[in-house]
Amino acid sequence: MSSSQEVHKNVILLPQTNQLIGLYSIIRDQETKRGDFVFYSDRIIRLLVEEGLNQLPVETATINCHGGQVYQGAKFLGKICGVSIVRAGESMEMGLRDCCRSVRIGKILIQRDEETALPKLFYEKLPEDISDRYVFLLDPMLATGGSAMMAVEVLLSRGVQMNRIFFLNLLAAPEGIKAFQEKYPEVKIITGGIDEKLDEDKYIVPGLGDFGDRYYCI
Ligand code: PRP
Ligand code: URA
Ligand code: MG
Repeated sequence: MSSSQEVHKNVILLPQTNQLIGLYSIIRDQETKRGDFVFYSDRIIRLLVEEGLNQLPVETATINCHGGQVYQGAKFLGKICGVSIVRAGESMEMGLRDCCRSVRIGKILIQRDEETALPKLFYEKLPEDISDRYVFLLDPMLATGGSAMMAVEVLLSRGVQMNRIFFLNLLAAPEGIKAFQEKYPEVKIITGGIDEKLDEDKYIVPGLGDFGDRYYCI
């Protein structure tokens, strides 16, 4: 059982507990230094990965326990892989590795133009058998949705089924969710927060600034 909320069809919001709000309060604060930003973002990432795993199908499994008792449990069905949108999405790889031992990880390098906010695809390297896998697409920010949509296009061109893609992100703007869902209604978005809007520079409001810069540089 998961207490996450499906706020729209295929948009899953992590439970807005005091703990989660406390974590976001730290990473949204512009006074927070990089060490804390990384530590508390990583905690949220871990929750997103756990929720992604909750969404995967299972089959029943009968387990023989120590005293001869039988336990009716569950076993994951299928194989997964992670795909990060470089650069900021790479911050989510460790959280996935922590939960899924020796998970395969692909990379798609997409950069948003700083003037136009339009995404540009530079590079992709994905597992050969990606079309047989559930894919956790990793990027902390869903702003206009342009970068995520471009990444999904790459995955579909490699034969991944739309309903096997789970897009994990820390913050989403309503504009990005709408654009993304109109184009890819079967992809599940798993997010920790849905903010108010985008500003004139297509940054999320209230947001947290440039995630990649705060996690890696500042
Ligand atoms: C950021 C972020 C997303 C994208 C979101 O990346 O990590 O990939 O912008 O914006 P969108 O929804 O409007 O496309 P950016 O291109 O700034 O690169 P970075 O990962 O190097 O920070
Ligand atoms: N990328 C970010 O890092 N933050 C935003 O608010 C929008 C795009
Ligand atoms: Mg950036």
